Amino acid sequence: MSNAGNGSRRYAHICGWGTSVPKRILSNSELAQMVDTDDKWIVERTGISQRFIANAEETTATLGADAAREALDIANISPDDLDLIIVATCTPEHHFPSTASIIQDALGARNAGAFDISAACTGFVYALSIASQAIQAATMNTVLVIGAETLSKIVNWDDRGTCVLFGDGAGAFVLQGSYDPGGVRTSVLRSDGSGRDLLKVPAGGSAIPASYDTIRDNLHCIQMNGREVFRFATRVMADACRDVVSAAGLTMEDIDVIVPHQANKRIIEAAARGLRLPIDKFIVNLDRYGNTSAASIPIALCEAVSEGRVRPNDNLVLVAFGGGLTWGASLVTWDVTPQPPLTGLRRFRRQALYRVARMRSAVRRGARAIEGTIWGSQAPDGMEPPRRDRT
Ligand code: ACO
Repeated sequence: MSNAGNGSRRYAHICGWGTSVPKRILSNSELAQMVDTDDKWIVERTGISQRFIANAEETTATLGADAAREALDIANISPDDLDLIIVATCTPEHHFPSTASIIQDALGARNAGAFDISAACTGFVYALSIASQAIQAATMNTVLVIGAETLSKIVNWDDRGTCVLFGDGAGAFVLQGSYDPGGVRTSVLRSDGSGRDLLKVPAGGSAIPASYDTIRDNLHCIQMNGREVFRFATRVMADACRDVVSAAGLTMEDIDVIVPHQANKRIIEAAARGLRLPIDKFIVNLDRYGNTSAASIPIALCEAVSEGRVRPNDNLVLVAFGGGLTWGASLVTWDVTPQPPLTGLRRFRRQALYRVARMRSAVRRGARAIEGTIWGSQAPDGMEPPRRDRT
């Protein structure tokens, strides 16, 4: 990005993007053998035909890291140049450490801070807003934003009301600062916690810690009041679009493409009617992915870019809703300067960099284990070791 432009104001531009999905596809007809449902009902009521399902080795972090590598390749940016990694997810690797830290280690992004954010399906819009504001404030220059989920691992596979909806996957964007106007222009973020019971994973947190009983009662799985979430979603999608467009000083006529959260085709159609926009302005790919929560917008946008549905200088609205309840939208001008693809030696060098990152991580963990064995029960300087003889 150049330093030319209109003075000292900084803008956050998207310069790389990537996706990753698990290998396994689960079709509606396979689902119909697991629960009392059928392909016709799922397609008519949701628009979903299939979804990707992670195996034991495919986790939120592995999918997120794969999407991030692709995004860094397209941006032609080294992991060392990253200042910050934000992962939006409601299926993190653990409560802590953050999935973002695990991905930071996998990429070998030695100069980056890392954290997760939890805003369910709205998470990617929240993360994009935080990243772009950090760049606009000039506290960061290069930020990796990832939406990654393995919802199949927290779905109750006996609950036909939810298990047909969700899928796994990840999408990543690299954002970089520049003085050229454009990029992520503005965002609106909203929440209404009074609707927290409509969509939740009840147990495993501090309110209801995990126990034998919570596992037996499937309280670690997604619970949803589908009809209420549907009503909420159809209302807020159009509102959030209008709010972000007016916050950017534009009108709906200026918008070329809308990338909605991919939860249900009927919700997207209702938003199109509410906004009086033709449905072909909306990117819809949930037929092949299902609802991948925080990953759905980046996956849909990446696919739209690769299919040529997003053109230079298009104004895009990314709009989402989800558990919390949360909702929000970002307005993005797609003014990407394509970088030459990584080829030959440079691709090989990048692969070597990731192998070195894996080795460095293993060496550090080994060194910590050895250090722990050598120092054993000895307390750090100035601290008294714990006494075991007290009764
Ligand atoms: N197969 C067959 N029948 C089903 C299925 C199924 N998979 N699921 C529900 N049904 C039945 C119900 O039992 C009900 O039967 P009944 O009338 O005999 O009681 C009937 O179908 C209608 O049920 P509804 O819940 O009214 O169906 P609806 O048309 O509302 O569709 C759906 C349900 C698809 C869940 C819809 O409400 C929806 O999409 N809601 C929003 C979901 C959403 O967007 N969630 C966001 C989550 S994102 C996040 O933050 C993680």
